[in-house]
Amino acid sequence: MSWSKKITDKVTWVGKVDWELKTFHGDELSTNKGSSYNSYLVRDEKVALIDTVWLPYDKEFVTKLKEEIDLNEIDYIIINHAEIDHSGALPELMREIPDTPIYCTNNGIKSLKGHFHQDWNFVPVKTGDTLELGDSKFVFVEAPMLHWPDTMFTYMTGENILFSNDAFGQHYATEALYNDLVDQGELFAEAIKYYANILAPFSTRVKKKIEEVLALNLPIDLICTSHGVIWRNNPGQIIERYLQWAEDYQENQITIVYESMWEGTRKMAEALASGILQADDDVVVKIMSAAKDDKNDIVTEIFRSKAILLGSSTINNRYLSGIGGLVEMVKGLKFKNKKAAAFGSYGWSGESVKLLSKDLTEAGFEVVDEGIRVLWQPDSDAIKACMAYGKQFAEKV
Ligand code: FEO
Repeated sequence: MSWSKKITDKVTWVGKVDWELKTFHGDELSTNKGSSYNSYLVRDEKVALIDTVWLPYDKEFVTKLKEEIDLNEIDYIIINHAEIDHSGALPELMREIPDTPIYCTNNGIKSLKGHFHQDWNFVPVKTGDTLELGDSKFVFVEAPMLHWPDTMFTYMTGENILFSNDAFGQHYATEALYNDLVDQGELFAEAIKYYANILAPFSTRVKKKIEEVLALNLPIDLICTSHGVIWRNNPGQIIERYLQWAEDYQENQITIVYESMWEGTRKMAEALASGILQADDDVVVKIMSAAKDDKNDIVTEIFRSKAILLGSSTINNRYLSGIGGLVEMVKGLKFKNKKAAAFGSYGWSGESVKLLSKDLTEAGFEVVDEGIRVLWQPDSDAIKACMAYGKQFAEKV
C-alpha cells in the first residue's frame, strides 16, 4: 500500500497531512484542525512536481517521493507560491536533482532566493505561458496577492485541473482528501476561517482573478488546493462561495466582543445582546471574549457579521490588551460593509469607548454613534440602559 494517493491516471497526491499543526504564520493563526501541504506529481510524457511541503517535513517528503519515483525522472518543478509551507522541502530536493528547472513567477524567484539564497535553475513564467507535458500541458495564470505577490495558479489541460495553491484551501487535516468525503460543517467552517483571516484583505483582487479565470471558459473538473481537500464534487461551489465572500460579505449576525476586568463590561455585553434580540429575534447574536476565545474564531465571526459591538474596560487611560491585539488584526484585514459601536465600564476616566470608536473607524467600520459607557458596576438602571442601547443599535444596523 502506498502513502501517495492517485487522483487521476496522470496525477498523484504526494503531500503531507499535518495533524499536529495548531498554529500557523508563527502564532498568528490558529489551526485547530491541523492542515496539509498538498504536493502533486504529474506523469505524462514529461514528469512535473507541483509544490513541496513545509520545512520540518522536508526529509520525510523527499524520502517518500523516492519511493514513488526516481527523482531523476522529474523534468520540471512548479512552485505556485514560495511561502515555506510549500517551498520548504526544495533545498532537500534540489540537493538530489540540482539542475531541474523550477517554474515560478518573477516574484517567486525573488522570494525563493530570499528564503534559501540558492541560484537554482529558475524559469520565470507569466500569465498565458504554457509548458508541454505530452498529451496535456500546463497553462500558468499569475494571481498576485492571493495571497502573496508571487502566487500563481497552474491549469492542466486534458485532466481539467486547476492547481490553485492557497486559494480555495482550508487548514484542515484529513486523510479523506476529497471535499465530498469530509464533514461538511467542519469543511466550510475552516474554509471561511481561512478566507476571513488570510484572503479578506485582498477581496477585490480575489473577485477580479476569479472572474478572469471564469472568462477563459476552461473546464474545471478538479480544484487541487495546497491546503485541505481537493474539490471534486461540484468544484464550482467553492468558487461561488469565494465570490460571495469577496463581495463585502455579511450575514444577518451581530457579534459582541468584549474584554472585562471586574465583570462590568461582560454584564454590559450580555444586556446589549438581550436588547438586540428584543428588536430583532431573527438576527444571530454571538458574544465572544477577546481574552478567552480564539482570536481567529473571533475574526471569522466579525467577518460574518453585519455589525459588531466592541467593548472594553478602561485601564491606564486605554483599553485592555486582548481587545488591543484584536483591533490591530481587524485593521489589517480591511473588512467592508460593516457597522459598529463601542461600549465599556470604567471607574475613573473612561477613555476606552472613545478610543475604540476611533479605531473602529480607522478599521473601516461605519461607527453608528458614540457608544455606551457605564460608571463602575452596572446597576439595574444601567443594565436597562444597555438593553435599550442594544435594541436601538439593532434597529440602526
Ligand atoms: Fe500556504 Fe501562503 O502559504
